[in-house]
Amino acid sequence: MNTPTDAPTRRVHVEVNGTPIVRDVECRKHLVDFLREDCGLKGSHLGCEHGVCGACTVRMDGHIVRGCLVLAAQADGHRIETVETPAPSPALKALQEAFVEYNALQCGYCTPGMLMAALDIVEYQPDADREQVRVGISGNYCRCTGYHAIVDAVCAVLERQRAGLAAQEVPA
Ligand code: FES
Ligand code: FES
Repeated sequence: MNTPTDAPTRRVHVEVNGTPIVRDVECRKHLVDFLREDCGLKGSHLGCEHGVCGACTVRMDGHIVRGCLVLAAQADGHRIETVETPAPSPALKALQEAFVEYNALQCGYCTPGMLMAALDIVEYQPDADREQVRVGISGNYCRCTGYHAIVDAVCAVLERQRAGLAAQEVPA
C-alpha cells in the first residue's frame, strides 16, 4: 500500500475511464492502489492481493485483468475502465440495473469486480448459457450471495440482449 518516499518511480500516461492521467508512480505500486490512491477511484477493491478473489477486477484495453497483479507502470499507454466509468456502456448499465433487480449484491465488496467480469461475458460471450456464466464469474469470490442471484442477473441481461438483437433481425 503506501510506500517510502525514496522508492523508485516511473512516469505513466494512462487513460482512466476516458480521462488522460499522467502521474509519477512508485514502480512497485499495483494498478488498484494507483486507481484508489492516485485517481481517487475507490470502487475497485483489494481482497487477497494475489490474484485469487477477483475483487480487484478492472478492464485494461477492453479486457478484464486482476488489478492486484498488474503494476501501475505496466498500464502505461493503456486504457483502464473501472466500475465508476462516468459513461457506462449500455451493457454495464443493464448489468448494474439487473444486479439491483435480482438482489445480486449484499455487502457489495465483490460487486465492482463482479460487474467487470460479467461485462466481459455479456460483451464477448453473448450466447453464454447459465453454466458458461458460472464459469465466467468463477474467478470472482462472493461471500454473501451464494452466487445464484448474480447468475440470474447476468443471464437476464444476456436474455434481454439476445431478445433485443433477435427483434432487430426480424424483417419489418
Ligand atoms: Fe486481486 Fe484478490 S485482490 S485477485
Ligand atoms: Fe458481499 Fe459479494 S455481496 S462479497
